[in-house]
Amino acid sequence: MFEQLMLKDNALANKVILVTGGGSGLGKSMSLFFLKLGAKVIICGRSAERLAAAKAEMEQETGGEVLAVPCDVRQYEQVDHVIKTGIETFGFIDGLVNNAAGNFISPTERLSHRAFDSVVDIVLRGSYNCTLALGKYWIEKQIKGTVISIVTTYAWTGSAYVVPSACAKAGVLAMTQSLAVEWGKYGIRMNAIAPGPFPTAGAWDRLFPKEIRDKVGLDPLERVPLGRVGEHHELANLACYLMSGFSAYVNGDVITIDGGEWLKGAGEFNMMEKIPSEMWDYVESLTRKAKS
Ligand code: HXC
Ligand code: NAP
Repeated sequence: MFEQLMLKDNALANKVILVTGGGSGLGKSMSLFFLKLGAKVIICGRSAERLAAAKAEMEQETGGEVLAVPCDVRQYEQVDHVIKTGIETFGFIDGLVNNAAGNFISPTERLSHRAFDSVVDIVLRGSYNCTLALGKYWIEKQIKGTVISIVTTYAWTGSAYVVPSACAKAGVLAMTQSLAVEWGKYGIRMNAIAPGPFPTAGAWDRLFPKEIRDKVGLDPLERVPLGRVGEHHELANLACYLMSGFSAYVNGDVITIDGGEWLKGAGEFNMMEKIPSEMWDYVESLTRKAKS
């Protein structure tokens, strides 16, 4: 039941939404839900073939209209071209999802400065390129645009072994919170979503292949209180809500959707779950004795 659309039919009709990295993974799942709710969607990414395949699949499934424009979000001119093509095709754009990302897991001292640049440029520069270009256009045309940026929970905790990504996601979150205030007067809303583990070929198969997980005995699910990964429709429904007028008073926030994962890592005594229930009498007796 909860795989269905959460919002009413046509809740996003008359919206035109640019989704960066909309040809795969979570970007594609969000695009599909936007289309099902009546929006027109522009997807961009570097691989023209991947975009064409996603466009064909999504149009067939929804009967909606998708514009696919190849673009490297690190290049402002290419972003500008996507936006101009989108406006020529659909008349206007009033939604943006900063979703495109690059990442790799590595000890930081093994990274070249070019590797660091590559991730920061895709995630942070790519997000501000799109936000700045659309923001200027929205302010000039008095369009009350909506931006959702897909960050991670380590945007505020930081994380070892993904330092370029952590730096960049923290920057995207700072941009979200800063512009929510600065551009609020224009009716532009800025929000972020921080997902926990959602299986995608890009993030999970490529970033942290199962072979390595098995070899080092790491089970990402152990970190999640709800004991499961996220379902794409759960995140897509949240994105639809944040993109729609139903969330008109939500501005400058980051909504975590991770089954409680980051809090489990943060709470001082959360590791006490390792104590089996039959051992708690013994633990209590020791702690009471220590007190007396
Ligand atoms: C170390 C690496 C590397 C690796 C590339 N480099 N891969 N260094 N470990 N695994 C280095 C290269 O040697 C090169 O440096 C520099 O990075 C640029 O490499 P290119 O291949 O030229 O980069 P580019 O073609 O721009 O590709 C970008 C990319 C790639 C980030 C390297 O992986 C990519 O396109 N990723 C997109 C998909 C993706 O990553 N999705 C994951 C999103 S998940 P030198 O010095 O040799 O020139 C996410 C959150 C996950 O963001 C959170 C999970 C909970
Ligand atoms: P993904 O499948 O690898 O998607 C990344 C997308 O970004 C691809 O479509 C890719 O297309 C595009 N992209 C990469 N570099 C680009 C560039 N320079 N210019 C334009 N497009 C570019 O990853 P995902 O798992 O769906 O992740 C989507 C978002 O969720 C990311 O922001 C990620 O950080 C975030 N996230 C994911 C998870 C998770 O568990 N999946 C968890 C936390 C956060 P091309 O390669 O064709 O360019």
